[in-house]
Amino acid sequence: MKIIGIEHIAIAVKDLDTSSPFWKHILQIPHRSTEVVESEGVTTDIYDTKKGKVELLESRGSDTPVGKFLSKKGEGIHHVCFEVDDIKQAIIELKKNNIRVLSDEPRTGAEGYQVVFIHPSSAGGVLVELAQKPN
Ligand code: CO
Repeated sequence: MKIIGIEHIAIAVKDLDTSSPFWKHILQIPHRSTEVVESEGVTTDIYDTKKGKVELLESRGSDTPVGKFLSKKGEGIHHVCFEVDDIKQAIIELKKNNIRVLSDEPRTGAEGYQVVFIHPSSAGGVLVELAQKPN
């Protein structure tokens, strides 16, 4: 498995309209896109430093993973995503090392990336996402 870099840091927010101005106007990180990811039940607002993105996650319902996170922990860092060269190979290697992955096959995440999540219990209490860029 080859980690290419930090792809993004994802931050759970209650309301994009309230949270986005800090990233957009104070830090002035260029806005890249806003996208609904139905499979994850979120609207994601993406800012790109060119050396790693910030993804704000607004839940689309209280029973979604981010909705549950917000009611349990409140706003804050939800996960850290690393870019990998080969996601399928990465999953094989993780499972070989008894690392708890949340799915056996990659799923399609924001911007068409193929992604998999590693359970926080296997990653020092942090929800870790691995992602492979679409061709
Ligand atoms: Co992510």
